[in-house]
Amino acid sequence: MNQEIKPQELLNNGYELVVAESPSNIALVKYWGKLKGQIPMNPSISYTLDKCKTTFEVYYKKLATPAESPIFYFEGLIANKFAGKTLKLIDTIASDFKELRNYHLVLNSRNSFPHSSGIASSASSMSALAFCLMDILEKSSDTNLVSYYARLGSGSACRSVFSPMASWGKIKNIENTSDKYATKISDKISTELRLVGDTIVLVHEGEKAVSSTDGHALMNSHHFRENRIKNAHKNYLSLINALELGDIDSWGQIIESEALELHAMMMTSDPAYLLMKPMTLEVIEKVRQIRKEHSVNTFFTLDAGPNVHILYPLSEKDVVIPLLKKFLSPLKMIHDQVGKGTKLIKSKKC
Ligand code: PMV
Repeated sequence: MNQEIKPQELLNNGYELVVAESPSNIALVKYWGKLKGQIPMNPSISYTLDKCKTTFEVYYKKLATPAESPIFYFEGLIANKFAGKTLKLIDTIASDFKELRNYHLVLNSRNSFPHSSGIASSASSMSALAFCLMDILEKSSDTNLVSYYARLGSGSACRSVFSPMASWGKIKNIENTSDKYATKISDKISTELRLVGDTIVLVHEGEKAVSSTDGHALMNSHHFRENRIKNAHKNYLSLINALELGDIDSWGQIIESEALELHAMMMTSDPAYLLMKPMTLEVIEKVRQIRKEHSVNTFFTLDAGPNVHILYPLSEKDVVIPLLKKFLSPLKMIHDQVGKGTKLIKSKKC
């Protein structure tokens, strides 16, 4: 087996290629806890990002009989031992679409952000992969189906398919919400809160002490479980309201409280754990100080990790970014913003 991917050799040997690109997303109301079959315990809403993305290339060759196992490369180098989620998603899709088993697949993925930056690559990679596989099966025009399978790869990945914002999780009496795939929300969002910047402050680069999978599982018997579910619903509805009204103060207040509540769940689970670092708290304090002293709308949120996402209306970007550089240097920062969602770069059809 080649240690390095050889694209030309594959193409010369009758393989064809599909390529998809998909961004990561940042949740405002957090998905935390899941039921069997990757069904979320509570609804969530996110912004789909732009620069932080995964590109997946899938070389495929149709055979007359079931193909050997797929081969997975990461940034062009063989990486089968890191291929767990990728191979699992291929298998899940192949059990619904048996014809996929007759395709030999050679996959190569790369992220636009640093490997150890703590930015969730599972959302971007699983949505990009789902899009490629659906394209091979000639079903990629059905974005709900792409989102459905992205979810089975990694829950939050289902939201990356849509932009500028996506909602995932069934809410009673709200049409167009589902536990099985995400839906786009944009129609009524005020422009100010649709065009948003996200500066990711890299507080700590490296592996998380507790994976999201284990964190979700701890919600099953969490003593705050019912309150968390209730509160997430309440925050979801209030956030939709704030987004529609362009109410920046309520938007920011909900975002910050959701981030802290997510980490409070971790700190009060059994066993308890902590993913924030001392520097996470220092950055949070700075964000609040900058907001107060410079009259800008900077608000923080956190994923399941120590890095801080600072959100602000893009109309304030030219003032906010210099302030962040001034107050947070020498910490590394990635300046991203709301982007366009999953995109096919090379489809089977062209
Ligand atoms: O998609 P997962 O299983 O990696 O879970 C992600 C959960 C959070 O990032 C903490 C919140 C969210 O809604 O994205």
